[in-house]
Amino acid sequence: MPQTTPKGLHRLAFGGDYNPEQWPESVWQEDVRLMQEAGVTMVSVGIFSWALLEPEQGRYDFGWLDRLLDLLHEHGIRVDLGTPTVAPPAWFYRAHPEALPVTAEGVRFSYGSRGAICHSSAAYRAAAAGITTELARRYGSHPALALWHVHNEYGVPVSACYCDGCAAHFRRWLRNAHGSVEAVNEAWGTAFWGQRYSSYEEIDPPRITPTVGNPAQQLDYRRFADATIRENFRAERDILHELAPGVPVTTNFMTALSQCDSIDYWAWGREVDLVTNDHYLITDGRRTHVNLAMAADLTRSVAGGAPWLLLEHSTSGVNWQARNPAKRPGEMARNSLAHVARGSEGAMFFQWRQSRRGAEKFHSAMVPHGGTDTRIWREVVALGADLDTLDEVRGTTTLPDVAMLWDWHSWWAQNLEWRPNEAHEARERADSFYETLYDRHLTVDFAHPEADLSGYPLVVVPALYLTTEAAGQNLREYVENGGTLVVSYFSGIVDEHDAVHPGAYPGALRDVLGLTVEEWSPLLDDQRVTVSGPDGATLTGDVWTEFVRPRGAETVWTYADGPAAGGPAVTRHRLGRGTAWYVSTRLDAASLDAIVAAACADAGVAERPALPRDVEVVRRTGDDGRRYLFALNHSTEDAVVPLDGAGVELLAGTPVDGKLAVPAGAVGVVRLDG
Ligand code: GLA
Ligand code: ZN
Repeated sequence: MPQTTPKGLHRLAFGGDYNPEQWPESVWQEDVRLMQEAGVTMVSVGIFSWALLEPEQGRYDFGWLDRLLDLLHEHGIRVDLGTPTVAPPAWFYRAHPEALPVTAEGVRFSYGSRGAICHSSAAYRAAAAGITTELARRYGSHPALALWHVHNEYGVPVSACYCDGCAAHFRRWLRNAHGSVEAVNEAWGTAFWGQRYSSYEEIDPPRITPTVGNPAQQLDYRRFADATIRENFRAERDILHELAPGVPVTTNFMTALSQCDSIDYWAWGREVDLVTNDHYLITDGRRTHVNLAMAADLTRSVAGGAPWLLLEHSTSGVNWQARNPAKRPGEMARNSLAHVARGSEGAMFFQWRQSRRGAEKFHSAMVPHGGTDTRIWREVVALGADLDTLDEVRGTTTLPDVAMLWDWHSWWAQNLEWRPNEAHEARERADSFYETLYDRHLTVDFAHPEADLSGYPLVVVPALYLTTEAAGQNLREYVENGGTLVVSYFSGIVDEHDAVHPGAYPGALRDVLGLTVEEWSPLLDDQRVTVSGPDGATLTGDVWTEFVRPRGAETVWTYADGPAAGGPAVTRHRLGRGTAWYVSTRLDAASLDAIVAAACADAGVAERPALPRDVEVVRRTGDDGRRYLFALNHSTEDAVVPLDGAGVELLAGTPVDGKLAVPAGAVGVVRLDG
């Protein structure tokens, strides 16, 4: 932050990962011709090319990459150039087998895939710096160069290494983080189960243990692993900044919570010049466009609200899930424009031409095995034209309505073992709260729990198990100053070291919620509770119940049955000029919506026009007063979206006034007048 844009790219980004080393150079000619036909503006190159660029240590072969970059430049295509440090060559591993990562079980991975890296390895660090330096020297001022793409998807496929080298590095990290062994003992609660350490040398990574390991140690190891990987990103970035000044540096994130869970993107967002993201639809029976919207909102938030860039998604099916459905006609464009609506400055794909060999030959691409006489190709060409038409939205930003708190550290802590109920997942609560807001057509900013929330009328807090003192204070001030808060059960329980806040639950949030929780009583798999409220209405919960004691809060909904029958289930606390709601059970979607509706009323969040829930409406605005409305119809019914005013629907180029027809599966983008 602040976010920048790819150098010399004066259009929305459209293109993909381009791995032409898989093909004879004669194919490259056809590639650039087709790229022009499709309106490709930028491609990502060289992400996995280390073994070709440096076939032996210190011997470089840049000839093919020279020719490729020149060819792309001649055709007006900008280049996002990879540092290939996610795929070290075999010669490197032969010389430095210790750079291969080790699992918590003590198994050392082999090479022959990608991403086999111990990020503490001095040999790896030196080799990565070496190839990065060579690339920066050779291409830093190449006219095609728009962006540096460092590494690939840090955090996967190996999120942490447990080797002896990492053990030594962890001890250094602990010294820095805690200052003394006594402080580590205190923070980790090693007085319990006889885990006390007398020196740093006695401390190991949380390798496999007979039963549950120390939770605070595991949490610190997560932080250490993330920080260590970030050190390596920074090292490459600093080389690139020094040798190629003026060229922005990125690395592709994967913010969709299910695809990478080991990276604290709040911290990473501050390190890159441009936030970029990869997103793939997950086939898990849920509405895929909701997870897409959530990932896009989270990415924008990590970018501080500024424009960001979707660097990878798929034209159709992927090949790494159990079931990989093809996208439906129109779905690729809808996915792409949904990202653009939520702040992406374009839409890029993995990959340009579908592979014939290797691990990803069944993953869709922009040029499929079937060539250009295919639905995919026709849709790719049409999308290129649409993005060209929508170029004027570049530089505008997405308008949020409300905020949701998200913290990777809390998520890591909450996913540790021996919790009150395994069926409770932080991720599930976040998904459900998000879905409720999505269905109300509200655009969500994500915020760190200690961030300034004063700009948001409503803040929802889905299971923020780890809540620091500072975050608790922040939420209290937010409410006192007029904000409205909705907090899920199992929030505010522990501090940054997974230690229970002193006193009754929820320690960090007792004041703001105006209550204590004496005990929780998780439910069994098939148990449900009924919650009754105003005017005889009822709601349904499962997984979790609690014995809540109001201490200032009013009881709005009461448990009608279950372990806490007769006790408060949902409460509201008026504090200062604001209101804090507390939901003590896992409400199903419709039930949660009833609470969110009431909180929206408290917060003065205007009701959106009644639209089907799968009709997505998002706004982008410019400092200069430009206003755009994106309407995406993910449903199978035609829809009409009300507009506050007149304007032009850009994709069809037709004037509109007061309303916009959006056929089933279609997208409309309106530039509103005035
Ligand atoms: C990731 C990687 C790509 C490719 C895609 C396939 O996002 O970055 O190299 O493997 O997945 O979906
Ligand atoms: Zn290691």
